[in-house]
Amino acid sequence: MWWLIIILILVLFLYSHKRLSYFSSRGIQTFPPPLPFLGNLTAVTFGRENFVEAIAAGYNKFKDQRYFGFYQYMVPALVLKDPELIRQTMVRDFNCFIDRGVHIGTDCDPFFGRNIVMLTGSRWRTMRAAITPAFSGVRCRYMAPLMAERAKAVADYLRTHITSKKIMDVNEITMPYVNDVIASCAFGFAVDSHKDPENCIYKLGIKAIVQDTTQIMKMYGFENMKFIMKMLNVRIIPTEVTDQFSQLFKSALKARREKLVQPRPDFIQTLVDVAEEITDDDLVAQAVLFYIAGYDTTTNLINYFLYEMAINPEVQEKLYEELNKVPGDDKIENIYETVQGLKYLEMCVCEVLRLWPLVASAGRRSVSTYDFGPMHPGSKHNLVAPAGIHIWLSIYSIHRDEKYWPNPNTCDPERFAPDKRGNITPYTYLPFGTGPRHCIGSRFALLTAKIFLMNFLRVYKTSAFQKSSRLCPRAFILRPADGYNLIVEPRTL
Ligand code: HEM
Repeated sequence: MWWLIIILILVLFLYSHKRLSYFSSRGIQTFPPPLPFLGNLTAVTFGRENFVEAIAAGYNKFKDQRYFGFYQYMVPALVLKDPELIRQTMVRDFNCFIDRGVHIGTDCDPFFGRNIVMLTGSRWRTMRAAITPAFSGVRCRYMAPLMAERAKAVADYLRTHITSKKIMDVNEITMPYVNDVIASCAFGFAVDSHKDPENCIYKLGIKAIVQDTTQIMKMYGFENMKFIMKMLNVRIIPTEVTDQFSQLFKSALKARREKLVQPRPDFIQTLVDVAEEITDDDLVAQAVLFYIAGYDTTTNLINYFLYEMAINPEVQEKLYEELNKVPGDDKIENIYETVQGLKYLEMCVCEVLRLWPLVASAGRRSVSTYDFGPMHPGSKHNLVAPAGIHIWLSIYSIHRDEKYWPNPNTCDPERFAPDKRGNITPYTYLPFGTGPRHCIGSRFALLTAKIFLMNFLRVYKTSAFQKSSRLCPRAFILRPADGYNLIVEPRTL
């Protein structure tokens, strides 16, 4: 019996060794050296560092390389450093990299596998084309008043709850706001989660977000040992949550189709109007996407913004001067145009997204053999990888690379001043990814955040209570380890 166990362990080690020789056998460097089975994810697995920090170690070590190797457990991935190589793979040769790196099919998770983030090849193309109109500038312009309505509800609530200086985790303000915007703009439901934190959409949304690495580990689980994960019936989002979402969304769809409620300019209406050929189950999966891809990202964008304003009071005062010129709520005729006209707010949002690109890495997988060129510029040895190689953009590391961003850790919105934008090296600013598979919801996210910030920072000021630059090791969407505790005080005091 013992010898069988020993042989099994030996076989597993040999298997792991073989898979972890992918890069060394091709002359590609990795850092730190991979450990059996865990690859380069040891510290991430044990909650000692964030995924972006694991990638940043190699990024900062291999200063002059165009790319380097990184093992997601036993799956090899190339981390691209050279902006031109990023352009080639993500844009020019997109057809070779149409699929996402880590992905789950419907055979593994019938619900999660249907959402556009996970779809591959032609199914992705069809779905992307069908739902793109829902995120157009025109749709966002229509949705802006719905967002402003939610921001006003927050303002009304805060008027009685923050009457003097208060230390608070600002996530308590922003999370209900973003939830209510999504409920209104995606599902057509009017909820006020500040007044009624027990409403079912808010409670469901919190359960649906892919917030920490346990969910990501599950994805790697599917990548590394699909058979076992399928046998264990593992689901990324619990089935009872997806079932409740299905019921809610299908009832909203039915009401719209049967014209039981007035049409509104929201996501669900676009699906009713445009995406006729898509099944209801597929539509539900895309609606939940707002929670999977849009909730935590947009909330943390606003949170990091308030945090950066708190630790950079001179920036906050300059922004206040701009916001103070905006007329009161009831006098704003066109909320969309007003927000788009706030140039300094735009510069600040860009800078906060540079410092804190919430989705700090984006991946693809090749569908045919690809020549990545040499590892070092000028070297003669090219890496020609067969189909199936994963690639990562380390957005966080590129955004803090001093080669492209002088004083990279300083918050300086002037980098994005209209006359300086031209100095930015192409493909070094990627908060929403790039190429045909870039973030579909960027307009929606920016508008949601700006409408909140315009309303909030005209009335309240944030200042630093503690400096919290350490990243939460478990967070998939970036957030600080100690929360967003800030001092919030009304301006009128
Ligand atoms: C500040 C907020 C947000 C940030 C920073 C962000 C960032 C990103 C990034 C970096 C990607 C990967 C892009 C790539 O691979 O090139 C992505 C993909 C995606 N995002 Fe966002 N996102 C945000 C908000 C949203 C919102 C509100 C939605 C709305 C539903 C959304 C929907 C998506 C979808 C569907 C994809 C996958 C697109 C595809 O595979 O075709 N995101 N996002």
